[in-house]
Amino acid sequence: MEVLIAETYDEMSVRAAAVVGKLIKIKPNAVLGMATGSTPLGLYRELVRLHQDEGLDFAQVTTFNLDEYVGLPNDEPHSYHYFMHEHFFQHVDVPSGNIYIPSGTTSNHAAFCAWYEERIRECGGIDIQILGIGADGHIAFNEPGSSLGSRTRLKTLARQTIEDNARFFERPDDVPVYAITMGVGTILEARAIVMLANGKTKAAAVARAIEGPVTSMITASALQLHPSVRVFLDRDAASELQMNDYWNWVQENRPRQG
Ligand code: GLP
Repeated sequence: MEVLIAETYDEMSVRAAAVVGKLIKIKPNAVLGMATGSTPLGLYRELVRLHQDEGLDFAQVTTFNLDEYVGLPNDEPHSYHYFMHEHFFQHVDVPSGNIYIPSGTTSNHAAFCAWYEERIRECGGIDIQILGIGADGHIAFNEPGSSLGSRTRLKTLARQTIEDNARFFERPDDVPVYAITMGVGTILEARAIVMLANGKTKAAAVARAIEGPVTSMITASALQLHPSVRVFLDRDAASELQMNDYWNWVQENRPRQG
C-alpha cells in the first residue's frame, strides 16, 4: 500500500486524477471503477479539465459504478446515476453504451447483480477502481459486518451511513434504506485501487483501514490484502495515522523506476 499525503483537497484530487489519466493514456480502452460522494468530486473535476484542456480521450473507456440507492429512478437528483451525469459523464466523451451503474429500479435484484458481475468480467475486469471511504470505514456500501468476500448485492444501509448521507437530502427520512453495491470481493478483483479521503471526519476510519487489523467491521481494511493500492489523503484525513513519518519518508525516497 502506498499512502500519499497532500497539503490540500485540490492537490490530493489532482494527484489521484493523474494516476487515472496516465492509465487511460497507456490503455485507451481502460475499464474504470467509479465512486460517488463528495470526496471524488475534485478528481472528476480534474479529469474533466484534462479532457477539455489536454485532450484526454475517454472514447474507448468503459466505466462501472460501485453502487446505487434502491428506489431512486436514474433522473432523480439524489441518485448516483444523476450524480455521475452531472459531475462527470456530461462533460467527457465516455460512450453512453460503455457506462454501467447499478440499477436502483430493477425488480429482480439478484438477477441484476449477477448480470452486473458478469458484465464486469466480459469487459475484461476493472483496471482501476476509485474509492472513497465512509466515516464507519465502509467502501461502496459495504457496511460494517459485510463479508470480505462479498459480491454485488442488495445491502441494507447502516444508520450511520443514512445519517451521514442525509445532508444530501431534504429530510433524513428521504434517504433510501437499501442500495445495490459491488461487494468487497468484487472491488478486490480490480487490478489497481485508488482510495481518497479528506477531512477530519474520515481520520479515524482511515487510520483503522490502513493501520488496523483486517476486519469486516472496517471493510476498507480489506484493501490491505490487495497488491496495488494507492491512498490519497489530505492532512486532516491523515491526522490519526501512526506511521505518518514513514509514509512521508517513503514518498521522499521513492525508488527510481528502472
Ligand atoms: C457513500 C458511498 C461511498 C462513499 C461514502 C463517503 O456511502 N456509497 O462510496 O465513499 O458515501 O461519501 P463522501 O465522499 O461524501 O464522504
